[in-house]
Parts: sequence; structure tokens; C-alpha cells
Amino acid sequence: MSVPSITVKHLLDMKSQQQKISVLTSYDASMTRLMEEAGVEVLLVGDSLGMVVQGQESTLPVTLDEIIYHTRNVARGRQRALLVADMPFMSYRTPELALESAGRLMKEGGAHVVKLEGGQAQLEVIRRLTEQGIPVCGHLGLLPQSVHKLGGYRVQGREAERAEAIRRDAMALQEAGMDMLVLECVPSQLAAQISQSLRVPVIGIGAGNSCDGQVLVVYDMLGMNPRPPRFVKDFLRDGGSIGQAFKDYVAAVRDGSFPADEQSFR
Ligand code: KIV
Repeated sequence: MSVPSITVKHLLDMKSQQQKISVLTSYDASMTRLMEEAGVEVLLVGDSLGMVVQGQESTLPVTLDEIIYHTRNVARGRQRALLVADMPFMSYRTPELALESAGRLMKEGGAHVVKLEGGQAQLEVIRRLTEQGIPVCGHLGLLPQSVHKLGGYRVQGREAERAEAIRRDAMALQEAGMDMLVLECVPSQLAAQISQSLRVPVIGIGAGNSCDGQVLVVYDMLGMNPRPPRFVKDFLRDGGSIGQAFKDYVAAVRDGSFPADEQSFR
């Protein structure tokens, strides 16, 4: 019997029923199949692939063709999860370019949703994508594509002014048509406020456990990062196999035991 696909509407329903959403990055068909068996709801073809697959120092060199290639591979292993693909650095610097890039991610890669980083500067882009029926995932807090501007991979929003700017950006992105939001490396309290005030699901990474869902980079949660960030938990260590690690991750997200305080920021 075929299982119905997860849609953006399904994630909204999960939020309203207070069911936590589990998200993992995936870059290939085999991992994707195991994630599907574990019940992961959203697969993210993140530009983190530049760092964990290609060995680059940042996500900046990743190209649109590379994301399309990996999205297509993930699409072949997908059964029911929602497939989100990252718009790489500079691929959405104008609304026209964003439409073209998102169109390719969907037509050639099979993505259902496109993800882009940034606040006020992206409002016009999000409006234009939304007008064309393209679902958008925003990304606020730590923005890896702005690492050189931010001066490193650091927690964002600890100061009142910066926290307020992130809150404002989140509301503005939602008004522009955003369908879901990734919130990266912000204090748990700020993430909780944003999750409560937004209608759309907020997926946290290093953002505490009051978000509507969680995402981790798959290689990180399999213990493959020699210098894992504080918010990462190695699920392979206890799980013993990759499939079990994915199942344990989904269970821990669902019951709210991940992330614990030690994987969160104040
Ligand atoms: O590129 C990526 O994998 C991401 C996640 C860290 C959210 O954006």
C-alpha cells in the first residue's frame, strides 16, 4: 500500500497538534532509504554538503548544479518525506535569479520546497517565489552563507537588539509567504518565543527543544565530525547501526528528549 507524501500542509497540522517534526540532511539515495524507514518527515539537501561531502571550508563554493545532483539522488530514495533543497550562495541574489534557480531545483532535482538564508533582504525574493507557487523555507540565526560577515560560526541573538531583529525578520518572512523556518544557533528562549509567535513550523538546530521540530546534519549525528558543535548528539554511538541511529533520533525528537540542555544555548 502506498503511503501518502508529507506536504507543507501536513507540517502545519503537526505544529497545531504539537507533534514534533524530525528533519535530517541527506545527500544520497541509500541514506535516504534508511531515513524513510525511520520515519523522518523532512529531508534537507543542505549546502552543508560542501563541507561534509566535498571537504570545503564553508558552504560558499557549492553550486546549483551540485545541489541539483544530490537532490535528484535523494529523490530516488524518497518515498513519503518532504524534500527541501538549499538555494546555494548567490543563486537567489535577485528575484529573477531566485525563480530560475528554484525552478531548476524543482524540475531537475525533484525538490518540493526551496530553502534560503536571510531576513529583510529576502522579502521580495520570497514574495516572488510564493506568487509562482514555490514553497519556501527560510533560515535565520546563524547564516552559514554569511560566515565571513558574521566573523565565524557563533551563537546569534544573545544581545537584546539582535534578538529583536531575528524576531522581526521571522515575522516579516512569514508575512512574505514563507512556509517553514530553520532557526540555527540561537538561545533556547528566543527560539521558543519565535516558535510560539509564528504560524508556520520552526525547525531548530542548536535552538533548544521548544521548536516545532529539529534538524541535524546527518554526518554530525553519526559521529563523523571530529569537532562536533555543542548542539550535536552522536546517535550512532548508542544505536549501533545507522538505521537504528535514525530511529533513535526520530524518537528523541518526537518525545522532546533531544535536544537536552547540554545541546542547547542560553
Ligand atoms: O545546509 C544545511 O545542512 C543546513 C542545516 C544545517 C540546517 O542548512
